[in-house]
Amino acid sequence: MTTNEKLIKSADRVKDHGEVFTPKWVVDKMIDQPEIAAKVKALTATFLEPSAGEGAFLVEILDRKLKYAAELSKSAHEFGNYALMALSTLYGIELLEDNVEMLVMNMKDTFTDNYRELMADEYQEKPDQKVYNSAKVIIRANMAQGDALKKVDASGDPIIFSEWQPIGKTKVQRTEYTFEAIVNGDGPTGTVQHVVEEMTLDLFPNEEPETFEETPTRHFIPCKWTDIYKEEIE
Ligand SMILES: C[S@@+](CC[C@H](N)C(=O)[O-])C[C@H]1O[C@@H](n2cnc3c(N)ncnc32)[C@H](O)[C@@H]1O
Repeated sequence: MTTNEKLIKSADRVKDHGEVFTPKWVVDKMIDQPEIAAKVKALTATFLEPSAGEGAFLVEILDRKLKYAAELSKSAHEFGNYALMALSTLYGIELLEDNVEMLVMNMKDTFTDNYRELMADEYQEKPDQKVYNSAKVIIRANMAQGDALKKVDASGDPIIFSEWQPIGKTKVQRTEYTFEAIVNGDGPTGTVQHVVEEMTLDLFPNEEPETFEETPTRHFIPCKWTDIYKEEIE
């Protein structure tokens, strides 16, 4: 464990929410397992951390996926697309507002630091602002504050996630699904890997699933990865 790693914030939070963060050395050991390492290297394999805390697993997987994206890329432009593609595969749900703030900040920092450094080291180029702008939209869409068991967000509405389906190498189709539909198998095909879910503690008692009226979802126009930030709707 690194000296500045804080795994518990308070005894009450442990009691009320089972909040104990996973130390980095444990995260590394788990992600290094061959079957998980192989999925991390498949750029489009998706991961969900359903009780994400501050993103112990998601941040580490993002770090590794971005380094792999740089290995695959033949140009700075291609790296921007692959970096956004890698980011778009990572999803998190967290109940507590302060943890979600840290989760979002940690994902943004991990993305921007890796993207900036790899652009300089591998391509001797400055970062593309459109990549940063699109990364922010993806992180906002993929990190939900809510209850993973009840499948509702902080306002009590169904949690909605976006699928980011690559179209060729440069474009993407964004499609929204409720988390409920994804769990019930009515979401995108080849949905999320439950690798992280299996690795996290089963903290929650069995509860009756919520039922919802049909939830309106937005219809996005296919666009370049670097134009995601425009969020153009049909
Ligand atoms: C054991 S911690 C794990 C955090 C992170 N996955 C890690 O490994 O560091 C569990 C987290 O789940 C959150 N949590 C508790 N109940 C939840 C629920 N119903 N839905 C989503 N998150 C929940 C807690 O706030 C806490 O941050």
